[in-house]
Amino acid sequence: MSAPAADPVLRASGLGKVYPPLTPKGVEVRLFEALSLSVAPGEMVAIVGESGAGKTSLLHLLAALDRATTGTIMCGPTDVSRLDPNPAAAYRNRDIGYVWQAHYLLPEFTAAENVAMPLLARGMGRRAALAAGGEWLARVGLGDRLKHRAGELSGGEQQRVSVARALVTKPRLLLADEPTGNLDAATAENVFSLLQTLHREQGLASVLVTHNLGFAHRCDRVFRLHGGGLETC
Ligand SMILES: Nc1ncnc2c1ncn2[C@@H]1O[C@H](COP(=O)(O)OP(=O)(O)OP(=O)(O)O)[C@@H](O)[C@H]1O
Ligand SMILES: [Mg+2]
Repeated sequence: MSAPAADPVLRASGLGKVYPPLTPKGVEVRLFEALSLSVAPGEMVAIVGESGAGKTSLLHLLAALDRATTGTIMCGPTDVSRLDPNPAAAYRNRDIGYVWQAHYLLPEFTAAENVAMPLLARGMGRRAALAAGGEWLARVGLGDRLKHRAGELSGGEQQRVSVARALVTKPRLLLADEPTGNLDAATAENVFSLLQTLHREQGLASVLVTHNLGFAHRCDRVFRLHGGGLETC
């Protein structure tokens, strides 16, 4: 008899998202209906789909940055789609690492300070937070850039810093939205390989949104967001 599958880290079911009209004569935007997605521990899932399909909107729901119109998103026992702003922020800080296409680093702060931010936000002392930030920078290959201002780093280095910032809190779930979209092919390969290595090392559940089909097919499962649902591809 095979071992029972581990409980998913994330289970979204019956998800629907409708953006209401922005003006009285505007139209609503219906993105998806009855969408389901389950991500197991250690699994890396890729989501592809044409521009405007709703990939970023879906990640925003999973990170409790926005609320679904219908459905549930369970992370452990918590339905994160119904959280008020403060518990939602706590959920993101505790459970989620997020990497965007743009790095959103604070350019005047050092690389180590940027990585330390989520730890400072949860109340850790400055010295310990900076030490952890430095350790994570070494892990992403930037041990010699701790005191560089983020604005002084190359695009690839900035994205490595944002990967370190996403993982310094030891999240369960990594959400990455076109993390290589702004990078040349060689740098994109480096950042994707880094994400995959850290995903495995940290035993994460990961969701990668990408337009790069080569990267997508190096993940465990690939879905296309199309026509309001996820199709296996
Ligand atoms: N806050 C909002 N209010 C109204 N409409 C929105 C809002 N956010 C996104 N949309 C619309 O939802 C659709 C999906 O946007 P989304 O950014 O999720 O697409 P995407 O699949 O990530 O595209 P891309 O590949 O270009 O990043 C778009 O048509 C967009 O205009
Ligand atoms: Mg997007």
